Amino acid sequence: MLSVRLDHLNDLDEWRGKARRLLAAGLKPSQVVWRVGAEENGLFEAGDDMLPQTDGPIGSVPRQFMELAGSVIQHSEPERFALLYRMLWRLQQDSRILANAADADTGMLTKLASAVRRDAHKMKAFVRFRAIPDADEEQYIAWFEPEHHTLEATAPFFCRRFAGMVWGIVTPYSSAFWDKENLRFGPGGSKKDIPAEDAVEDDWQTYYDSIFNPARLKVAMMKSEMPMKYWRNLPEAARIAPLIRNARQMEQDMIARAATQPPARHTRQKAHEVEEEAKDIQSLSDAAEAIGGCRRCPLYEHATQPVFGEGPAQAEVMFVGEQPGDQEDLAGRPFIGPAGQVFDEAMEKAGIDRSRLYVTNAVKHFKFEPRGKRRIHQKPNAGEIQACRFWLNLERDFLKPKIVVALGASAAQSLLGKAVTISKMRGQPIPLEDGAVLFITNHPSYLLRIPDPQKKREESANFDADLALIRDHMEKLHAA
Ligand code: URA
Repeated sequence: MLSVRLDHLNDLDEWRGKARRLLAAGLKPSQVVWRVGAEENGLFEAGDDMLPQTDGPIGSVPRQFMELAGSVIQHSEPERFALLYRMLWRLQQDSRILANAADADTGMLTKLASAVRRDAHKMKAFVRFRAIPDADEEQYIAWFEPEHHTLEATAPFFCRRFAGMVWGIVTPYSSAFWDKENLRFGPGGSKKDIPAEDAVEDDWQTYYDSIFNPARLKVAMMKSEMPMKYWRNLPEAARIAPLIRNARQMEQDMIARAATQPPARHTRQKAHEVEEEAKDIQSLSDAAEAIGGCRRCPLYEHATQPVFGEGPAQAEVMFVGEQPGDQEDLAGRPFIGPAGQVFDEAMEKAGIDRSRLYVTNAVKHFKFEPRGKRRIHQKPNAGEIQACRFWLNLERDFLKPKIVVALGASAAQSLLGKAVTISKMRGQPIPLEDGAVLFITNHPSYLLRIPDPQKKREESANFDADLALIRDHMEKLHAA
C-alpha cells in the first residue's frame, strides 16, 4: 500500500500533481492511501518518494470533473482524496460516468460539492467583522466556524466586498488576511483571539433590526436559513428573541427600504460553459443547485448568493419580479422583504393563495451599490436581464405554468424579450409562445416608492384590479 502525502487540506493543484504521478505509475485506487500533513502512515504503508517525478500521459478529464473536484477537495470528508482519485482513474476508462446520476461515486461527488457550496454561502452570509481595538489603522477581524475547508476559496469574495478595509477572518483550521492589496493565508486560531464586541456590532444590530420582517416571521425557517450553530458568532443573534417578542408591534411600524448602482465591471465567463452545465439540468431542483455556479454576468461577484424561484413544482401560476433585494439576497429566498410584504398583502386582498404560486425573479443576483454599510438596489440592465433569461426559461420549461405574471418592466422585458410600457400592456392576457398567458402589472416596490398619497391610492387600486383579473383567470382555469 502506498501512502501519498499532501501538505494541504484543500489544494486542488497539489492533489492533481500527485494524482497524475500515481496514474503515470499505474497505481490503482485500491493501492493508495491519502494522508495529509503530519498524519502518520499506517503499519504497512510505504512513503510516496518512489513515485515518478514527472506526470505521465493522462486521458481527457472532463471540465465538469475538475469543477466538481475544486469543490469536493474543500469538504471535510477524509475520503475525499481517495474518491477523487477513484473517479479520475475510472474516467480514464469511461469518460461518461459523470453523466450517470445513479453511479455511487458520481452521486457522492455531487453531494459533497453541494455541501461545500452551501458552506461557502453560509460563510458569505454569516461572517461578521469586529474592529480590532487600538490598532494603528482601522482593522477588522471575524471568527467563523465553517463545516468544511472553504476559507481559501471563499476569501476572494470578501476581498471584493470589503476591498477598502483591512480585515482578517479566523477559522479553526486556517485564517485569511487582506491588507487592501494582498490576500494572505495563515494558520487557524481560536475564538478567544477575537475581540468580544465593538461599535460595529451596534451597526449590525441596527441593520438586522431594520431588515427583520415581522410579517414573515417563521422561526423554523430562520433556523434553517441562519443555522443556530452560527448564531453564537452573530451579534444580531442576541436581537432575535426581542425581535420575535416585538414582532406584532414592529409589523405596524415597518418601513420600506429603498435602493441602487452597478458593481465594478468584471469579465463575463464564456456562455458555453453554462450551456454545458445545462445538459445536466433535468429538473427545477437541479437548476436551483446549478445556479450556484452561475457566471453568466458579473452580478454574482458581489451578491451573497443567487436567489432561485420558490413554490410548488406543480404550480400553475408563476409570478416574476425584477431581482432579489437586500433581504432576499441574505436569506436566499424571493420576495421576503418590504416588496414581499406588499406582495403578500395584495395577494391576500385579491384572494390568491401565495403558497400555490411559484415566485421568482427575472434576475437572480442582487444588484446594488454599496453606500456606507447599506446596499442600495440598482436596476438590472438589458444585458443582465438577457443573461439571466437562461434561468427563467429553465424555470418555465420545468414548471410549465399556465399563467405567468410579470411584476414590473424588467420582468416583462425578460418574458417578452423586449422592453414594453406597462400602462399599455396591463389588464389583458397576452399569449406566450409556449401556450401560457402573460399578465403584466406594476412591481410592488413601485407602490412603495410613490410619495403622493392620492397617486399611491390610484396605483394601488390599479394593482389590485390587475390581481383580481389574474385571480379570475386562475379560477376559470381551475373550473375548466
Ligand atoms: N423585488 C423583487 O423584484 N424581487 C424580490 O425577490 C424582492 C424584491
